[in-house]
Amino acid sequence: MQKGFIFDLDGVIVDTAKYHFQCWQAIAAKAGVQFTLEENEELKGVGRVQSLEWILKKSKKSFSQKQRNIWLEEKNQHYVSLISHMTRKELLPGVLTVMEKIRDTGHRMALGSASKNAKLILNILRLTSSFDVIVDGKSVESTKPSPEGFLLAAELMRIPPENCVVFEDAIAGVQAANSAGMLSIGIGQQKYLHEAKYCFESFADMDSTFLNDLTLVTDQ
Ligand code: BG6
Ligand code: MG
Repeated sequence: MQKGFIFDLDGVIVDTAKYHFQCWQAIAAKAGVQFTLEENEELKGVGRVQSLEWILKKSKKSFSQKQRNIWLEEKNQHYVSLISHMTRKELLPGVLTVMEKIRDTGHRMALGSASKNAKLILNILRLTSSFDVIVDGKSVESTKPSPEGFLLAAELMRIPPENCVVFEDAIAGVQAANSAGMLSIGIGQQKYLHEAKYCFESFADMDSTFLNDLTLVTDQ
């Protein structure tokens, strides 16, 4: 049985979460609100527009659409300037080994990211050709925890959702995978990702027996 493996990008393949956080903190300061690392967990996997809305709700002031658009543009310019210096050294521990194992065992692989910068990042990291399917923030209407992106990835891979596995570092992403009827594997801290079926601090902590079982090709 061929499976579909869907990888989130930010915080699963590469450590971009710190850049998103840095950029949102700068915008929050301009809006006169605090934005902490703990709060950033809530915004992982959440789209750009929704993330700004979340931050601005912390203020008692109201902000015009024009001001919101300026901040969205500023945040993205700042973010793109930071990620353009990224190298493969920022790939997260163990991710390439897991990708190779999936490829070698003949399964399909998709990217399932909420980011509109996903293709740019894959190009910078020279990973574009590793994926059979790329679903990014430009491919879908609704953001995680909606299952829309993962269901589209499954459809494009031609693998039924129940035969798909999702690697996610975000609470919203784990919820999206669960609603899509896929096997959710959290990559990060259990205290945030307890809704995932399995959770590992990083791919490097995934033991080879687990990975062998996950990628085992059965006749069903
Ligand atoms: C997700 C990140 O992958 O992409 C979020 O976890 C981010 O933090 C979202 O807001 C949208 O990213 P972008 O690059 O389109 O602003
Ligand atoms: Mg993520």
